[in-house]
Amino acid sequence: DKIDDACARLLAWYDGHARTLPWRVPPGSGEVPDPYRVWLSEVMLQQTTVAAVKDYFAKFTAIWPTVHDLAAADDADVLSAWAGLGYYARARNLIACAREVAGRGGVFPDSEEGLRELPGVGAYTSAAIAAIAFGRRAVVVDANVERVIARLFTITDPLPGSKEVIRAAADSITPDERAGDFAQAMMDLGATICTSRDPKCLLCPLSDMCTARKAGIAAQLPHKTPK
Ligand code: ADE
Ligand code: SF4
Repeated sequence: DKIDDACARLLAWYDGHARTLPWRVPPGSGEVPDPYRVWLSEVMLQQTTVAAVKDYFAKFTAIWPTVHDLAAADDADVLSAWAGLGYYARARNLIACAREVAGRGGVFPDSEEGLRELPGVGAYTSAAIAAIAFGRRAVVVDANVERVIARLFTITDPLPGSKEVIRAAADSITPDERAGDFAQAMMDLGATICTSRDPKCLLCPLSDMCTARKAGIAAQLPHKTPK
């Protein structure tokens, strides 16, 4: 159907245009991402931009290449390596989570529900790890994805009130296969094509199903309730 075709085009676009990021494996390479690296990157990305996270991710994985290494680290060393990323509660939870996973033999839970119980892993992060590291179908909605979805479906209710409606719409187009690639394709589409000010609809693999583009109001969405 139409949604399957759109997903297929999005995934084909991702195969050719995925951002190369240090925590990713190339799409279609058959490589399996290391759950430790996926978890570490998603925790770092919680309140920090991709550009700022890159160097920290490289530093952390050079010093602590596995969850066992991080679990064995001195708290003070981890906290000082974290300096600059902000939100120190995240670093505290990072240490606690590494120790918990190391205590389970270094094996991360492979479901959204299991991941959600780890320190510092909320609804968004558990969905992202389940999809990206374990190929689980999960609905992964960050700010970039919210914008893409609000435009595809012309959701005109303002954020944050529209979060649940956006989530339901994202669920309706999430495929069973290639869940991690789909999630990251939507993030990349939002970051590079479906940008806030100037969506490049002529380059968009989803343009034929995009109702806000058809209505000529894409750049105005999503609406936001003034703070
Ligand atoms: N933001 C949060 N998770 C991300 C990911 N896996 N790739 C790019 N941006 C992200
Ligand atoms: Fe965004 Fe334009 Fe693509 Fe719609 S067609 S999803 S507004 S880039």
